[in-house]
Amino acid sequence: MIDTPRTSHEPRTPGRRGRSALRNALVVGATLALAAAGTVTALTGTASAASTLAGAAAEQGRYFGTAIAAGRMGESDYMSVLNREFDSITAENAMKWDALQPSRNSFNFSTADRIANHARSQGMKLRGHTLVWHSQLPSWVTSLSTNDLRSTMNNHINRVMGQYKGQVHSWDVVNEAFEDGSSGARRNSVFQQRLGNGFIEEAFRTARAADPDAKLCYNDYNTDNWNHAKTQAVYNMVRDFKSRGVPIDCVGFQAHFNSGNPVPSNYHTTLQNFADLGVDVQITELDIAGSGSSQAEQFKGVTQACLAVSRCTGITVWGVTDKYSWRSSDTPLLFDGNYNKKPAYQGVMEALGGSDGGGTTGGTDGGTDGGTTGGGDTASCTVTYEQTERWGDRFNGRVTVRAGSAPITNWSTTVTVSSPQKISATWNGTPSWDSSGNVMTMRPSGNGTLAAGSSTSFGFTVMANGNWNAPRLGSCTAS
Ligand code: G3I
Repeated sequence: MIDTPRTSHEPRTPGRRGRSALRNALVVGATLALAAAGTVTALTGTASAASTLAGAAAEQGRYFGTAIAAGRMGESDYMSVLNREFDSITAENAMKWDALQPSRNSFNFSTADRIANHARSQGMKLRGHTLVWHSQLPSWVTSLSTNDLRSTMNNHINRVMGQYKGQVHSWDVVNEAFEDGSSGARRNSVFQQRLGNGFIEEAFRTARAADPDAKLCYNDYNTDNWNHAKTQAVYNMVRDFKSRGVPIDCVGFQAHFNSGNPVPSNYHTTLQNFADLGVDVQITELDIAGSGSSQAEQFKGVTQACLAVSRCTGITVWGVTDKYSWRSSDTPLLFDGNYNKKPAYQGVMEALGGSDGGGTTGGTDGGTDGGTTGGGDTASCTVTYEQTERWGDRFNGRVTVRAGSAPITNWSTTVTVSSPQKISATWNGTPSWDSSGNVMTMRPSGNGTLAAGSSTSFGFTVMANGNWNAPRLGSCTAS
């Protein structure tokens, strides 16, 4: 069984040198401790940059997520790229009001549960989107009286947050409550009309009580340019909330950019100024219209801006592939319609300090369990993870490596843990490490030869250091 992802943010990892020193200290300690138990594996390592978005972001102490559409979950390439590249999921539509409570007091969690279950089974985080929003709101809500609307809003928050309690790391409690343009006014939504300015505060207070461990975010678009009235209006609201103790933990910047609304040169200033109010900031729906190097540069710039702000805890792109984007003709995402990595992908990876894998194609493994090197009679393998034991401070994991339809003589895969987790021991494999100590590449230790369809396993101990997230597996490669 895989643990429910932790609901609070991980602290930032120390710098590269600090992480490396920490790992060395832990490795030495673990090696000494385990020598007595006779289970020592030499944890010497070679350095290599992470080769996925999530892996590279994890090395920077951030998550890298995507929105997903439940209707695409049957497509193997979609799932393969999702599982390989991302470590946080936002439901693109399935957790909105019209999906969850289409008629009064009749909740339907089945589609959203499928997404939540997938995230949990893969050890991914889950972002909650969104509880109170004027759009995708069923018509029955808009005809309620003031008192009815108040209790209905609070009931919706309680039921939905209750359903995903302990699973969602951050909830978009209120979405898009401000007008565009120069007014800085609140949007004239049904919530605003009936409940007045106080509805936002009330929603946050209800949300805190419903799931005290979830980070509570205000989420909006066109709040990227520090000089814009809407940015200032949201900033003033957050400052007011913080000064009065209204529970708010984070601000989401949707970051839907195009030529009319490009990434502003003061983006970093905006993120930093919000962070300085004492909230986390997250880039929550990133997509940038365009192509080629210009698009790549903008993606790189947004990623760099997040990395420059210590309270910018993660980035979510608004979809896996251009072909399923809500604005697909703008080709605004990191993978094209054939799941090829775009220059934009390389732009993000450059900023994250990862290796970009050089424009290779996405997954074709047809599975959700970690990836293969191919099909037919060529050497291939898949990997699956399960937690086998758990104690107060650590847990053991087992990875099963299974050969595909051809025999293999060698395999390798990666296991990525999230700081401050540390792998303290391994068995039945030969590990090597990247410079952060978070990404372990495992190769055979006398168990490299497998008949077609047969399997072996290796194991490891993770010192949780308060973080019980399941490790993430990379692709399995075989020869
Ligand atoms: O599922 C139905 C389908 O049964 C029906 O036949 C079809 C006909 O219109 O509609 C389908 O639902 C559509 C849904 O996407 C799923 O594809 C809705 O009409 C359509 O309105 C909905 O669009 C979503 C949009 O929010 C709604 O406002 C987009 O997918 C989604 O990407 C977009 O996401 C928003 C964020 O939530 C908030 N920030 C802006 C962002 C982009 O608009």
